Amino acid sequence: MAITHPSFGTLDDNRIIFFDTTLRDGEQSPGFSMNIEEKLRMAEALAELGVDVIEAGFAIASPGDFESVQSIARKFSKDGPVVASLSRANAADINASGEALKPAARKRVHIVLATSDLHMRVKLRMSRDEVLEAIERSVTLGRSHAEDVEWSAEDGSRTDPDFLCRCVETAIKAGATTINIPDTVGYSMPEDMARIFRDLRNRVPGIEKVVLSAHNHNDLGMAVANTVAAIQAGVRQIESTINGIGERAGNASLEEVAMALRTRHDALPFKTGITTQRILKTSRLLATITGFDVQPNKAIVGRNAFAHESGIHQDGVLKDASTYEIMTPESVGWSTNSLVLGKHSGRAAFRDKLKALGYGDLGDNAVNDAFRRFKELADRKKVVYDEDVAALVDDEVVRGND
Ligand code: KIV
Ligand code: ZN
Repeated sequence: MAITHPSFGTLDDNRIIFFDTTLRDGEQSPGFSMNIEEKLRMAEALAELGVDVIEAGFAIASPGDFESVQSIARKFSKDGPVVASLSRANAADINASGEALKPAARKRVHIVLATSDLHMRVKLRMSRDEVLEAIERSVTLGRSHAEDVEWSAEDGSRTDPDFLCRCVETAIKAGATTINIPDTVGYSMPEDMARIFRDLRNRVPGIEKVVLSAHNHNDLGMAVANTVAAIQAGVRQIESTINGIGERAGNASLEEVAMALRTRHDALPFKTGITTQRILKTSRLLATITGFDVQPNKAIVGRNAFAHESGIHQDGVLKDASTYEIMTPESVGWSTNSLVLGKHSGRAAFRDKLKALGYGDLGDNAVNDAFRRFKELADRKKVVYDEDVAALVDDEVVRGND
């Protein structure tokens, strides 16, 4: 049955909502904080990328965060993304979110409360009954600020399943329109995700009227796999960050989830609002703003994601890129793939490079000699650059003329 949501109207059953938390959970990782002007630039890029919801910050966290949420709220019209602010389940937090979001054309109050026995006992020092009461009270207050209220069960994936069902039922009855079950400490495996969401869908009255959401951390490197498993189990909102930044090992990376959905459309027949061609640009903007580069082997946006060094791969890619590329570089914003010359490279890539550098008409002997000397050089240098190749060939030509 299609869901009617206050921010999105009637949702097609195969539409995945992208909730981006780069500016909140992402910003919470050490060294990644951003000032208002930087957050505004990121928010604009996220809107252009096509995310549906931007979590702009945690309004009560600091005056700067309040102002950031307020400025981002002011920025977008009805055609722009929904702007969200996080709040704990208390009146001060929720009222701060409500106030900061006032100028927003489309707004969401996001409320979080821990539900695992461990968190309730050690951190909250609250009983199960007290937690249920706090959910009821806080979501009701949230609804007085916005029609669109998301409720999150912090440490939800380690929560007793019966109690989790009661918490979710309480949140829905109080007016929550999105129910998010975070894997706060990145402990789950894909089967756990599927079980949690299937269980909620089978057992909680009213669950069919709300959007289910997954929010996965990457402590075991499974955030994206868990997110995909959650989608397969009926989740229609996924929470992620650009470059996978976030607390500790980070959150599910937006670009990886978006490209999994696009590349494996055969197995994951869902649609999104993401303009994937803008992914690289957005990733680079975040790296520039935060000063943290992504690692070279990072899927989709790392500098090696579409680079090939080994001779076997280069030969294949030169014949047909799909031999070693499952998506085109252009589909995520790269202008092209790259054949990097190194000691593993073969003659085909070397010839290709010569042609690209304007040395297309060298005879076989000169090419063979230059290739032999290139291999010697590649043993000494990690990467052989265009200038090195040009120097080798020019030298070869001079020698040949002597
Ligand atoms: O990881 C988490 O539990 C969170 C919540 C605030 C949604 O970030
Ligand atoms: Zn989180």
